[in-house]
Amino acid sequence: MTDTQVTTDAEIATDTQAAHDTRIATHDEGAACPAEAAVRGETPVAFPQDRTCPYRPPAAYDPLRASRPLARVTLYDGSTAWLVTGHETARALLADPRLSTDRTRPGYPATSPRLRALPDRRAALLNVDDPEHHAQRRLVLANFTLKRATAMRPAIQRVVDERIDAMLAQGPPAELVSAFALPVPSTVICELLGVPYADHEFFEEQSRRLLRSRVQQEVRDARDRLDAYLGALIDRKLEAPSGDGVLDVLVDKQVREGTVDRQEAVSLATILLVAGHETTANMISLGVYTLLQHPDRLAELRADPSLLPAAVEELMRMLSIADGLLRQATDDIDVGGTTIRAGDGVVFATSVINRDESAFPAPDDLDWSRSARHHVAFGFGIHQCLGQNLARAELEIALGTLLARLPGLRLAVPAEEVRFKPGDTIQGMLELPVTW
Ligand code: HEM
Repeated sequence: MTDTQVTTDAEIATDTQAAHDTRIATHDEGAACPAEAAVRGETPVAFPQDRTCPYRPPAAYDPLRASRPLARVTLYDGSTAWLVTGHETARALLADPRLSTDRTRPGYPATSPRLRALPDRRAALLNVDDPEHHAQRRLVLANFTLKRATAMRPAIQRVVDERIDAMLAQGPPAELVSAFALPVPSTVICELLGVPYADHEFFEEQSRRLLRSRVQQEVRDARDRLDAYLGALIDRKLEAPSGDGVLDVLVDKQVREGTVDRQEAVSLATILLVAGHETTANMISLGVYTLLQHPDRLAELRADPSLLPAAVEELMRMLSIADGLLRQATDDIDVGGTTIRAGDGVVFATSVINRDESAFPAPDDLDWSRSARHHVAFGFGIHQCLGQNLARAELEIALGTLLARLPGLRLAVPAEEVRFKPGDTIQGMLELPVTW
């Protein structure tokens, strides 16, 4: 889960068009490209921009790659921030306690109006600094260890098989996001947390609005509805203990004892539920699309399923679906002679960082033989993705089983017609029509 951003349609169109127009105009005049000037700290480029290919960073970021590790960028509201683009610098800064994730701090960067919609509220974990963050993470950490994710594999396999059975029973074609990519992680996180999957249409829709809506009131309403829903669920669990899900245990051991208050439990429940399905769903849909666009890699994977763990890591690196992690400096920080001043906004462009050739040789190649595990697609430092073990298990099982059980899997429409998400939110496919 990540705090990426959403602007209004009109604003995105204007921003992207403006950046595009400026680039063309300056090139026509034979002057320096504004993106290159941004690297020198002259004219910042706009961040974020839409991808033109769903599995590549926007072409407009290319000049930023040439001159790592830092650039200045302009955000949607005209403010400027540092964009971190170098791998070593990113890992150092993501582990630096002088960068805060508390979005209620004055001057905290926002890459869209959506992130200004909830000025008074910090998401549990994600927007909380140490030591409070450490205490919150300890409350739920045991449920997200590698051991726990491994123990969940048979349950994940069952969910994946049921979805594929249903697709086969219905016959081709299918829309893979709604038939498979979304329901698999959604069902799994419900079972893990102790949330009734029967309510999935409601919470998936509210999550979608929370992460993607371009209307601030809609974002606030979605947050309020999720709060009310999870608050009521927690109250029911308080009245009548009903299972051994993460939320059941949290309620039983912490809320009932008074060590965690109800609002904190609701906030934790919200982030676990939203982060637990939306991100993985995007990785599955975009992962399948990317594999179908790389038939040689796909054939290698089909021929040797033991490549799956490496393939998942490499897809995570290449797709970098959470692009634009936000922080604010609480103190001056020197980065190779450049000073990030206290109060400055800092944005981590994971798509660019994960293509830093000093960390990943031939970074634009999809290559199962590389060791990609040091990517920052799950973040790094104290906020590194809590659900990464679970996500890896889900992705390995979902992709591996889909390829094995649907050997003829292919797009049902021309590749260029498949719609994907705009650059201001977690990247993924809006829909993925397939046949087999
Ligand atoms: C492929 C899928 C996923 C991706 C790409 C992803 C990505 C990320 C990233 C980049 C961060 C760090 C954000 C930052 O530093 O600002 C993060 C944090 C987090 N993720 Fe994930 N995530 C995924 C799946 C999951 C799942 C399945 C869960 C399950 C509950 C989850 C729960 C969280 C939580 C709770 C945090 C906040 C951790 C903290 O602040 O301590 N994520 N994720």
